[in-house]
Amino acid sequence: MKNSFGLLILVLLFSFSTAQAKPKAHVTKQLVGQAYYLKRCSHCHGEGNRGGNLYSTREWKKIFSAHGADLIELHDGEEGTQKVMKYLKSKDFKKESAKMLKFIQEFAYDSDTIPTCN
Ligand code: HEC
Repeated sequence: MKNSFGLLILVLLFSFSTAQAKPKAHVTKQLVGQAYYLKRCSHCHGEGNRGGNLYSTREWKKIFSAHGADLIELHDGEEGTQKVMKYLKSKDFKKESAKMLKFIQEFAYDSDTIPTCN
């Protein structure tokens, strides 16, 4: 009797806490790409959930292709972008861009993991 009462409390607590839980935020597996993005882009573009869904997965691929030619063009002449321009033309970008692209593609509007819909 005492035991089953304890169990009932547990079940009640459990269902209460899951009902209260917030929708789970998308958790990326692209941790390396995420780290690059956070370091290089997020201070201007937010944490990835804003902005990423401007483009489709394929469009992002194009934007990151040709050594970031599109990215360079997009930032050229904008205020405060000298540093990111320098980065986009650097060896570091060549090294980091593939993983960064994978991370950003998770947030593309045609991705099945769009975190902004919950
Ligand atoms: C110094 C701030 C800054 C940093 C750092 C920065 N950007 Fe930008 N970015 C801008 C500005 C300013 C624009 C042009 C205005 C706009 O479209 O918001 C822009 C535009 C863009 C666009 C075009 C957006 C559109 O509306 O079509 C893309 C894509 C983009 N940035 C990606 C990146 C990526 C990827 C990185 C990291 C490698 C990055 N940016 C780093 C400031 C920054």
